[in-house]
Amino acid sequence: MGVDVAVTGLTKSFGKQLIWKDVSLTLPAGEVSVMLGPSGTGKSVFLKALIGLIKPDEGSIVIEGTDIASCSEKELYEIRKLFGVLFQDGAMFGSMNLYDNVAFPLREHTRKGESEIRDIVMEKMDLVGLLGAEMKLPGEISGGMRKRAGLARALVLDPEILLIDEPDSGLDPVRTSFINQLFIDLNAQIDATFLIVTHDIHSVRIVPDNIGLLYHKHLAMYGPREMLLSSDTPVVRQFLNAQTVGPIGMSEEKDADQLAAEKDMDLPPIPPIPLQLEPSNGIPRRSQREPGAWCRENGVTPPKGSFTKEAEHASGSSQS
Ligand SMILES: Nc1ncnc2c1ncn2[C@@H]1O[C@H](COP(=O)(O)OP(=O)(O)OP(=O)(O)O)[C@@H](O)[C@H]1O
Ligand SMILES: [Mg+2]
Repeated sequence: MGVDVAVTGLTKSFGKQLIWKDVSLTLPAGEVSVMLGPSGTGKSVFLKALIGLIKPDEGSIVIEGTDIASCSEKELYEIRKLFGVLFQDGAMFGSMNLYDNVAFPLREHTRKGESEIRDIVMEKMDLVGLLGAEMKLPGEISGGMRKRAGLARALVLDPEILLIDEPDSGLDPVRTSFINQLFIDLNAQIDATFLIVTHDIHSVRIVPDNIGLLYHKHLAMYGPREMLLSSDTPVVRQFLNAQTVGPIGMSEEKDADQLAAEKDMDLPPIPPIPLQLEPSNGIPRRSQREPGAWCRENGVTPPKGSFTKEAEHASGSSQS
């Protein structure tokens, strides 16, 4: 259950515009990974490349021995059945009600009868808090509801790999917490490999096993959560702590003068690393490691106060 996704040397341009170059990472089977990056750095393009909707110029994406970047259309059709995808815009069919939208992959890819389809659709609608809204059209509901309907649709085929593009944009903070908990519960239940794109720093601190950061046309860092949350690499530290001081400017990078002016500024200390969010039924996450294990193994002193209940609150999350 759950499969590795091995990306090597991935490069993509649109015409003359290079989006990213030489991206290599492995999404470990059954683990939750998050991809971050300033707007426009190609996170959505990366997700689309992973399911073969966008062809990279170079590199490979290997899933169960098949390279998505070079396989035949027929192989791609088969391998896509492993995926559940929530696109950034929800990508709902505007003329179909939510029920038919969510049922669509089941009708398209399985031979299930309508009564079985109904059970699955209603179960997933319930999971995302949309029971009662089945008959509404996508244009008649709020942006956050559309996101949740898209999530229900991404789940109906019990995917091995879930790609989720900004589940929390347009969601209120309470629903964001519920969705985060839902991801962790689902991960414990179906053991799928997750890749979530988000800008929500609180979620990033407690949800994933691994974090990646796309910046300036490359993958600046990718690794275990504790590695990035304790990192003092300027761009990682700036992004994860939502600071204005650092290499990222309002539009692309800062120039040399701006960076020189910042050189002697004191940065706020790196906040404590919170405990990971746990499945709500009290069982450990499948990929759970002892808090602080990565730091210990790598000789890194975690920020003061890490891995305590207080650290959770210091990082602004109140999930417990
Ligand atoms: N099909 C396409 N053809 C040409 N350019 C594209 C296409 N899709 C995306 N781009 C360009 O690729 C760049 C990266 O876009 P992408 O949507 O992946 O950014 P993003 O990191 O997801 O940003 P955001 O955080 O705002 O969602 C943008 O400059 C965008 O205009
Ligand atoms: Mg995007």
